[in-house]
Amino acid sequence: MLNITIRQGHLHKQRADAIIVNLFAETKSNLLEKAADLVQNRTIQQAISLKDFTGKLGETQLHYVPEASPFKRILIIGLGYQNDFDLESARRVAAISIRKLNEIGVRSAATTFVNSEQNGLSSQEMAQALAEGSYLALYRFESYRSKKSNKGIQKLTILVSKEKHLTDIKRGVKTGKSISEGTILARDLINEPANEITPIALANVAKELARHNDSIRCRVLSEPSIEKLGMGALLAVGQGSINRPQFIIIELNPHSKNRPLIFLGKGVTFDSGGLSLKSVSGIRTMKCDMAGAGAVIGAISAISKLKLKQRIIALIPAAENMPDGKSFRPGDVVKTLSGKTIEILSTDAEGRLILADALTYAERYNPDAVIDLATLTGASITALGHHVAGLFCSDDLLANRLIEAGRDTHEKVWRLPLWPEYREQIEGEVADLKNSGGPPGGASTAAALLYEFASAYPWAHIDIAGTATSNQSNFYTTRGGVGFGVRLLTHFAQSWSDNFQKSR
Ligand code: BES
Ligand code: MN
Ligand code: ZN
Repeated sequence: MLNITIRQGHLHKQRADAIIVNLFAETKSNLLEKAADLVQNRTIQQAISLKDFTGKLGETQLHYVPEASPFKRILIIGLGYQNDFDLESARRVAAISIRKLNEIGVRSAATTFVNSEQNGLSSQEMAQALAEGSYLALYRFESYRSKKSNKGIQKLTILVSKEKHLTDIKRGVKTGKSISEGTILARDLINEPANEITPIALANVAKELARHNDSIRCRVLSEPSIEKLGMGALLAVGQGSINRPQFIIIELNPHSKNRPLIFLGKGVTFDSGGLSLKSVSGIRTMKCDMAGAGAVIGAISAISKLKLKQRIIALIPAAENMPDGKSFRPGDVVKTLSGKTIEILSTDAEGRLILADALTYAERYNPDAVIDLATLTGASITALGHHVAGLFCSDDLLANRLIEAGRDTHEKVWRLPLWPEYREQIEGEVADLKNSGGPPGGASTAAALLYEFASAYPWAHIDIAGTATSNQSNFYTTRGGVGFGVRLLTHFAQSWSDNFQKSR
């Protein structure tokens, strides 16, 4: 992982393969001239006079310097207009510059800290954003490639002008690192093929996390316990696969006496659709169907490193949905842990089934709130595309907290309706409920089914089908698993303060 150090110092004295000069659009001329003077670089002066460099967000130019200089290159990068600058701009600028330097094989770089207090952004959160953008942009999944990509950039020095900001910035970078590591863990889990990440393998990742961390405890229920408990829905989804279902319970700060937050992640390690088999194009990416579980595990890892005192429990129903002689079938009726029965119309609507049992299991903890993350429906992608996740929530305070956390982290959520009208579409005929309400409002009818099992506590469901993976690398997002939800959940947990709970 990239090594980020923070020091007091001046850019023009840095020994590095490159220095990064960050420039706001309105102040670029005088700053650029200052920079150009300092490094006696004529091409920068030309870029100013020819107006080739405008300073718009993410615009870059690479310049070279006389041999005597302590650094070899100058990357100038635009920050856009000062008033528009926010944390997401900071992440993007960091990502663009680090990618650019990494591409040309630069090993070390130095950058000045962008102070944006006038926009109400603290040094600490700015530093966190800078770290996140840098670490996450450099992520590659290549454990299965014999030829790894070049080592690239190893070291980034952040230069701070005022000593009083030093501690805040160090703290921000540390937070950003923990959160990035959690996100990277989630990305790795999503990108791992389904022949590696089976339900048991996923459980082992959780156990491993607990083994290395005193504040984390992990318990895994295997098939006999799942059966004895009466989780008939989880059992049914997993019964067609040789990789048997598991129910994973991770506890952070287990000795805390407070009511816990519960994070619940869909852990379908491969979704073939079962006997309601998916199409060739639909099935191709379905190793990603445990992205909710990946995000929850990543968030627990990040939050434990941040040493939050909040008691958090992660619940992960894990199963592989496969067609087989032993598979569950359309027309089958399953009995859930709650006692309610569900008729299977499609074995491809499996996520809501395993979540139903987990939502009921959550009741025993008397939780403060339950938040589930799931790659649940194609319909949510149709509704919202790939830029934002669908939020369904039974509690306005909780919803607003999540929307706010989404705004701050840029892992955006958009609230969709959880109205009783949608419930009608899943009213049962043979059993209490049907597991599919047909095409109209598919994301909402799936949420309506979950709500049947989540009425005992404040609850939010986040459908991440559209945001869990990405087709292209963009800023600090990389192709494949995004790790969406790790930053959102971590930020949410950080802001779930005593004050807020008392305000209910
Ligand atoms: N895992 C899928 C949803 C999904 C689709 C996630 C595309 C990521 C990308 C889910 O289990 C599923 O198959 N949902 C069905 C439900 C339908 C059968 C009611 C869907 O959305 O088509
Ligand atoms: Mn499915
Ligand atoms: Zn699925």
